[in-house]
Amino acid sequence: MDLHEALFTTRAMRRLRPDPVPDEVVARILDAGVRAPAPGAVQTWRFVVVTDRAVMGRLAELWRTTRDQLLEVVPTLYHSEIQARSSQYLHDHFEDVPLLICGYGPPGSQMILAPALWSMCLAARAEGVGSTFTTLLTRAKDDVDAIVGVPADAGLELIAALPMGYPLGRWGVASRQPVQEVVFADAWGAPSRWQSSANHD
Ligand SMILES: Cc1cc2nc3c(=O)[nH]c(=O)nc-3n(C[C@H](O)[C@H](O)[C@H](O)COP(=O)(O)O)c2cc1C
Repeated sequence: MDLHEALFTTRAMRRLRPDPVPDEVVARILDAGVRAPAPGAVQTWRFVVVTDRAVMGRLAELWRTTRDQLLEVVPTLYHSEIQARSSQYLHDHFEDVPLLICGYGPPGSQMILAPALWSMCLAARAEGVGSTFTTLLTRAKDDVDAIVGVPADAGLELIAALPMGYPLGRWGVASRQPVQEVVFADAWGAPSRWQSSANHD
């Protein structure tokens, strides 16, 4: 797949088929992820890849409890009805998610994990596998550790998790604020001479 197309169409895919993602595909996704940059190439990341149905079932319960708690505190979590429905679908079907990549790193290592995890999302896109970059489960990271067996003395914490699977829906270009609204040329406030091509809200 053309890199440009992958960059434009890798977006949150929460409606996933339960069909397993073949191991050779998972291997390519992971291998792409660990090529990501890190400061001084520290590579302090670790990944727990969940495909076991019983483990996913326990994580699904945790996902639902955590999301319910968050929605009680932040009822206006979603920007649109479409986003709310997509999130609800994942909530209702989490146990059917075929693949979950949990990214671990030293406390506060979001900047180290994010490039690797996003590379995995892009690599998944190239394989026709949908993904969503999520941090919800970090609100219950000790419980996740207990479920996937991360020892308390590992010195690592859950940074983000990627539910993945073949999508039920269609791929589309991610809708974002156009370049000309978020970019300045040379000085803050100066108009951008670069513009987005199309497909923006
Ligand atoms: C750091 C980060 C944390 C996120 N956490 C969650 C999450 O916990 N649950 C979720 O469903 N989506 C999560 N998302 C996905 C965003 O909601 C999504 O990227 C955004 O709504 C844009 O959606 P789109 O790519 O489909 O247009 C997260 C994204 C990022 C970058």
